[in-house]
Amino acid sequence: EDPRLQGISAAIRVVPHFPKPGIMFNDITTLLLRPKVFKDTVDILVERYRGMGISIVAGIEARGFIFGPPVALALGAKFVPLRKPKKLPGQVISENYVLEYGTDCLEMHVGAVQPGEHALIIDDLVATGGTLCAAIRLLERAGAEVDECACIIGLPKFKGRCKLNGKPVYILVECRQ
Ligand code: PRP
Ligand code: MG
Repeated sequence: EDPRLQGISAAIRVVPHFPKPGIMFNDITTLLLRPKVFKDTVDILVERYRGMGISIVAGIEARGFIFGPPVALALGAKFVPLRKPKKLPGQVISENYVLEYGTDCLEMHVGAVQPGEHALIIDDLVATGGTLCAAIRLLERAGAEVDECACIIGLPKFKGRCKLNGKPVYILVECRQ
């Protein structure tokens, strides 16, 4: 296993009972305070996806906006923000998804993606996978080919490679709980 992964896992702070009782929140802000570890995280993703013909890195609000852009810049790809409802000013397409309580929605600007482009989707964490599945649907509706999704943290059952909506999900470290 890549020796950098241990440092990444250790740099993530686990905050008990946030945002509600019983939840162990895996907080990546402590990782961001350590430039070497932040760089290792971005480097691992760039090394994995370089030379694959990816022209879109799509980041999921909010923490996919932290890890997505440095990867996009290093790959020479465009960065496409997938935002929570009513944040994007232009014409959008939307996908609803189910949460533990209620539903949420992601939106993407029409015209951000050309049919046939190859995309990588990035977020900080995958739990149920509902958020990533909505993101995959958005990109595919716009005609993009989603090559892979990448998250820094995943539930242990997702560690390594799993699939959501038929698409591979690459996870760097296991969620600590
Ligand atoms: C968290 C996390 C992922 C999502 C994963 O975001 O950042 O985006 O949940 O959960 P899932 O795999 O069960 O869909 P959250 O919805 O809390 O919003 P935020 O990133 O804007 O804080
Ligand atoms: Mg999120």
